[in-house]
Amino acid sequence: MKAVVMNRYGTPDVLELKDVAKPTPKADEVLVRVHAASVNDWDWGLLHGTPFVNRMVSGLFTPKVRIIGGDIAGCVEAVGGDVSAFEQGDEVYGDLCLSGFGAFAEYVCAPEACLVHKPAGMTFEQAAAIPQAGMLAVQGLIDAGRIQSGQTLLLNGAGGGVGTFALQMAKLYEAEITVVDKPGKLEMLRAMGADHVVDYLKEDFTKGDKCYDLILDTKTNRSPLAYTRVLNPNGTYVTVGGSMPRLLQALVVGPFVSRISSKHVRIVSLKPNKDLAYMNELFEAGELVPVIEGPYKLADVPDALRFFGTGDHKGKITVTMV
Ligand SMILES: NC(=O)c1ccc[n+]([C@@H]2O[C@H](COP(=O)([O-])OP(=O)(O)OC[C@H]3O[C@@H](n4cnc5c(N)ncnc54)[C@H](OP(=O)(O)O)[C@@H]3O)[C@@H](O)[C@H]2O)c1
Repeated sequence: MKAVVMNRYGTPDVLELKDVAKPTPKADEVLVRVHAASVNDWDWGLLHGTPFVNRMVSGLFTPKVRIIGGDIAGCVEAVGGDVSAFEQGDEVYGDLCLSGFGAFAEYVCAPEACLVHKPAGMTFEQAAAIPQAGMLAVQGLIDAGRIQSGQTLLLNGAGGGVGTFALQMAKLYEAEITVVDKPGKLEMLRAMGADHVVDYLKEDFTKGDKCYDLILDTKTNRSPLAYTRVLNPNGTYVTVGGSMPRLLQALVVGPFVSRISSKHVRIVSLKPNKDLAYMNELFEAGELVPVIEGPYKLADVPDALRFFGTGDHKGKITVTMV
């Protein structure tokens, strides 16, 4: 089978389209013919070996993961002996970030626990866009943020994968939504229902007068106290990711903030695939449509990653194999 392989850390230039052996599923695994995949920040980190501390797990000098890509959508080609939820021909999707990645390939083996059935009306590309960013949006907004109807919400980094899912979900709670991103993405976000837009190149929302009940942040590049300054009493700041030193600050400072004030600082630790059934419900009800750039062909995965690196993408970048 064809796969995009990396034998060393580096830029997208180190990725090569190669012929490799087709994998064989273990007893609890499903062999998936991959139709589509999508690019996530973790792929970028695995490719570059950053942040460096992650190399303790991913391989100090040589990467252990040779085929990156977490989010897949495709058709079940074969199942292991212990698999009960799926059979040959089923259309499935899920995130393989805890089971070895491998999405940028024609076939991949996935534990059955990582997959759900894809609704018939959802394209493979749409399905591949959902898992990681969709879970971070649900777990940030609902589990950690405990969003309530009618709240004021600020989405920082709203134009990317997580933000475009979170915006659509927050609309269901009739939240008053402020989005923060680059100018090129703000028109799209307004058209998706954002009430207020902030161009982060011109304005720092943490220095303004407006306060929010909930902030969901995909970029965390300021101190936790800068964010809590613009929270209403009882407000919550939730980060799903960003600068490592800032995340460590949030981890340390968060508990003190709750102790000395009515505000909260929370960090989301991704639970992959936990809420895919909920995403299917929203999609089938017409309440959620993934925002997609692409698709790129499998051979063009390096270009897809280069585009991801520019930050100019809106929503998710997808790759198709079929
Ligand atoms: N918590 C966990 O367990 C876990 C697991 C996986 C991933 N993650 C994290 O989750 C996040 C994924 O977010 P995503 O998929 O939405 O990423 P994304 O698609 O790259 O979107 C991020 C958005 O933020 C914008 N942005 C960049 N700099 C900004 C700034 N200073 N202020 C406001 N917006 C800014 C980007 O636009 P421009 O660059 O064009 O400005 C882009 O639109 C990453 O931080 C990742 O590391 C966390």
